[in-house]
Amino acid sequence: MDHFLYRDGELFAEDVAVSEIAAAVGTPFYAYSTATLTRHFRLFDEALEGMDHLVCYAMKANSNLAVVKLLGDLGAGMDVVSGGEYRRAQLAGIPGERIVFSGVGKTREEMEMALAGGIRQFNIESEPEMMMLDQVARSMGVCAPVTIRVNPDVDAKTHEKIATGKKENKFGIPISRAREVYAQAAACKGLDVVGIDVHIGSQLTDLAPFETAYGLVADLTETLRADGHDIRRLDLGGGLGIPYEQSNTPPPLPSDFGALIKRTVGHLGCEIEIEPGRLIAGNAGIMVSRVIYVKSGEDREFLILDSAMNDLVRPTMYQAHHDIVPVRAPEPGAARSAYDIVGPVCESGDTFARERQMHRLNAGDLVAFRSAGAYGAVMASEYNSRPLIPEILVQDDQFAVIRARPTFDEMINRDTIPVWL
Ligand code: LLP
Repeated sequence: MDHFLYRDGELFAEDVAVSEIAAAVGTPFYAYSTATLTRHFRLFDEALEGMDHLVCYAMKANSNLAVVKLLGDLGAGMDVVSGGEYRRAQLAGIPGERIVFSGVGKTREEMEMALAGGIRQFNIESEPEMMMLDQVARSMGVCAPVTIRVNPDVDAKTHEKIATGKKENKFGIPISRAREVYAQAAACKGLDVVGIDVHIGSQLTDLAPFETAYGLVADLTETLRADGHDIRRLDLGGGLGIPYEQSNTPPPLPSDFGALIKRTVGHLGCEIEIEPGRLIAGNAGIMVSRVIYVKSGEDREFLILDSAMNDLVRPTMYQAHHDIVPVRAPEPGAARSAYDIVGPVCESGDTFARERQMHRLNAGDLVAFRSAGAYGAVMASEYNSRPLIPEILVQDDQFAVIRARPTFDEMINRDTIPVWL
């Protein structure tokens, strides 16, 4: 459920008309709903009730400072994957003991930054990384809390670019080698091994792969405990999918996911962490765009929008579907067309949808891309020298610009011309 609903034929974000935001900030823009973000975080938090737990929001989904602060104020921890995300978490006031650091390529500088600023744990993904962290921690005279991410070789049954739990993926250490690597970790004076980490992929619409992976983690917990390791924390990753197409059967709910966690690892008495990103932010955001032209091709009609693949790359990159709806609801019985919906960028890949059935639209009309709150603004670029589009946060009947649209000169002035030119 989200908070983007029609009232009297007008799309609203909570209690604000989307057209009102468009008039104030221009198009295109992203708009996020506080109520939806809050609701989705709470669903996860409640799903793990009764277990010692921390929901660590995967900031990569949407790392706007306001979004991070909003979730942090609700008690969320943060899952960060770069020094930049760590810094954002810090600036949003998230205490170090609620920040976990994931990612396959943490640099020495990132490790130093997190150890100096405070960290709940590093999720280690390889032996060389483990040796580096041990060295960095010892050189700083501290001990780094770590889990080791295991790769359970489970098929997450999702898009190949976002599956991470198969042995051919770059993530984690093979679960078959876990005992050996944990023994090595235990011998490192700069490391404190606190638990196990696993994350098998994103946009999972079936719970079975989670069940298999968590079952393997439960077995591993017992094996490692028998080997003498004090496994007291399990980071079970993120990945629960969202309904991108309202016409499809909805994916499992956070409560189903929570019940699965209790069933598979609840008996171990470990502290549980999860790292959801998409389900918290995805349906809490829309991207609003204006039709520039309706162009008739030889065998089709193109809806040319003022947003493009640089603003929302998911359709181009993953052939992802986003529902695209008119901001002004069509009159009953209005004519329909099948449009190819495209942006102004100079490549054919700049296509949001092909032969999408919609009520007829005209130049100047506003449309909203649903489910654009996660992996939308964060994946945007300035390709074609198109400035990043603004982000808006709505709460009840108020809205605020939480990232402003840069001017052309602000965008361009980051370049410098060398003295010899
Ligand atoms: N934890 C780790 C270690 C991850 O790598 C990810 C996502 C998450 C948590 C959060 O997963 P979520 O709950 O959001 O599914 N750009 C792609 C998605 C990439 C996901 C990468 N890792 C997309 O637009 O679909």
